[in-house]
Amino acid sequence: MPHELLFGSDAPTMHMPDVLARGMIGFHSGWRYIILLLLLAGIITGWQTSKGKKPFTGFTKRMGMFTMIAVDIQLIVGLVLYFFLLARYTDMHMGKLTDQMRMPEFRSIAVDHLIGMLIAIILIHIGYSKAKKATVDAVAGKKQFGYFLAALIIILLSIPWPFMSIHAWRGWF
Ligand code: HEM
Repeated sequence: MPHELLFGSDAPTMHMPDVLARGMIGFHSGWRYIILLLLLAGIITGWQTSKGKKPFTGFTKRMGMFTMIAVDIQLIVGLVLYFFLLARYTDMHMGKLTDQMRMPEFRSIAVDHLIGMLIAIILIHIGYSKAKKATVDAVAGKKQFGYFLAALIIILLSIPWPFMSIHAWRGWF
């Protein structure tokens, strides 16, 4: 007996227009380098402040805020991409999702990338907030340095780099 279909068809229903998909993936992909540079600057200035070489003001303090804004922008774009990735691969069917979870290429983005990046973004938020609340400059620098370094390592491990065999088709930008 044919099963009842909500929209009268079982063809994929939710696809982003091609131009928008390419634009958003292109942005998400290139934005990684802005995040990596900001994180690096936050780590270096945080370290210098923790050693008493700099006050926790101006450039050092702003680096933390810019990094947080940059990852939040990436999170918003990522959430939209995530929704359409699920729609594209699973048509929002539980059975297809279970099937796809067996595919390393899908699982790597749908699970590893998502969890890794969410942890890194939370660490950046905690680091920024702890540094802002610290009353001693060296302590603020230490917080920014430590949390941002942990986030950088997790981000580097969670990016689907083209040198990974399952992501070889993805570009560097
Ligand atoms: C610091 C945070 C993040 C960085 C640096 C990052 C970086 C990247 C990179 C470099 C790609 C490969 C793009 C390409 O194919 O050229 C990618 C793909 C993707 N990211 Fe992220 N990402 C971040 C956070 C997130 C978050 C939080 C989500 C979900 C909520 C997300 C969802 C996705 C999805 C769904 C794709 C695959 C897009 C597709 O091929 O359809 N990302 N990400």
